[in-house]
Order: sequence, then C-alpha cells, then structure tokens
Amino acid sequence: MDMSMPPTGLNSALFSDSGISDQSRIQSLMEDIFRHVQGRANVLDDRVSCLSQVLYLMYLARARKAISIAEIGFSIGFSSIAFLESSPQAKVTSFEINTETYAGSAKEFIDSRYPGRHRLIYGDSTQTVPAFQVAGPMDGFDLVFFDGGDEYSCVKADIANARRLAKPGAALVVDGMTPWFKWGIGPTTAWEEAVRDEIVTPLEYVSDALAVSRLQGPTERAWAVGQYR
Ligand SMILES: C[S@@+](CC[C@H](N)C(=O)[O-])C[C@H]1O[C@@H](n2cnc3c(N)ncnc32)[C@H](O)[C@@H]1O
Repeated sequence: MDMSMPPTGLNSALFSDSGISDQSRIQSLMEDIFRHVQGRANVLDDRVSCLSQVLYLMYLARARKAISIAEIGFSIGFSSIAFLESSPQAKVTSFEINTETYAGSAKEFIDSRYPGRHRLIYGDSTQTVPAFQVAGPMDGFDLVFFDGGDEYSCVKADIANARRLAKPGAALVVDGMTPWFKWGIGPTTAWEEAVRDEIVTPLEYVSDALAVSRLQGPTERAWAVGQYR
C-alpha cells in the first residue's frame, strides 16, 4: 500500500485544518498499524480510510468535543486512530463483523498505543448494535461513524439502531456516499431517507476531502456529516 500522498488540501466549514504536523504524525501512525497488521495477515477484505478522511474524522471529533465515539467497520483501525488521536480523553467502541487475523492485530496495536481506550465488538452490526447497552441517554455516543456493511438494509438499520445509543444531537458520518459506484448505493439511499424522515439534519458533504454543496460523480470518496435529531 502506497501511503505517500500529496498534501490533503482538507477543507470544512465545521473546523479548521491545523496542518502539516498532524498530517505527518497521522500518516506515520497509519503506516505503523498497517505494517503491524501486514506482519500477520496477507490481504485485506475491504477498502480502508485514506489519510484525508482520517484527518477529517480527527478534526471533526475534536471540533464536536466528542469523547465517546462509536464506529461501525474497524478493519485495520485507521478511523479508530483518527478518533483516539482527537483527544486524550476520547474512547472508541468499534463494531466489526470480520474476525480475520488483521482485525485482531490492529486491535493489539491500538491497545498498546491507547491502553484502556478502545473496545472492539465482533459480530454483525445489525445484531450487535441493537444488543449494545448504554446506561442512559447522557452516557451515549457523541459521534458515530458508519463505515461497515454497505448494503442498503444494513446502513438503514445501523443509522436507526445507533440513534438509540447516541446522545441527543450527536454527530454522525456516513461513508460511501458515491451512488455512481455499486457499493455507494446503499449508504446514499439510507442517508437520504434518514434526512427525509427527519432522523438526521445534514451538516456537510465532503468529496475527496473538500466540503461541497452537492455530491456528484465520479469522485472516488465522499461522505456525509450530520446530527441526530
Ligand atoms: C471500509 S472497511 C472499514 C474501514 C475503517 N473504518 C477504516 O477507517 O479504515 C468496512 C469494514 O466493515 C466491516 N463490516 C462489513 N459489514 C459489517 C457488518 N454488518 N457489521 C460490522 N462490520 C461490518 C468489514 O468487515 C470491514 O472491516
């Protein structure tokens, strides 16, 4: 995996990018965890976050003062790094269906670097998220990142189920808002329905690291940011 990338040129209305030192620190953490995983596993089953997305997630979590964060889709832990780097107080709960070696080795890396701050729940999120308990609404998540199964029914269920675990007004990020690709149809449809049904208020759309007023193809990566109502 070549992670030598040009500057991200990240822009957002929700925070300001604090620059090159964050970029090189995060890039080197991503390389470290990837090397750690690669030592034990051969191939990955899925796409992983790119540097600009990891930086975006870190700045967003910081801007929202998110301390309790959930993500659906852990893979090799790039987005977990984003959230755990956003603040020394941040704690992350990841839901992941894949029990292949690489998730376990990524977890090992995360635990050694951020002891006691990460929880990994294996299983299908359509089962594990509704089964997950938080003590009360104010103990819920401040931010939820949806980057797991990309089928419509899965994203739809995840957005609805995670709402019960989120604090009122919690932020959410839905990845895969690229309906010009097969894998983008599910997340885009589920997001649009959540907005239509007034479950979510949209805050920002991001296309290849730039905030945009409207998502359009054939951008490679796009995500939506909103807030639960
Ligand atoms: C795109 S990857 C996640 C990338 C990761 N967030 C990152 O920052 O690099 C999607 C992950 O979601 C997991 N996944 C797919 N369907 C799932 C489901 N129903 N429940 C939980 N995890 C799921 C896959 O095994 C895969 O590891």
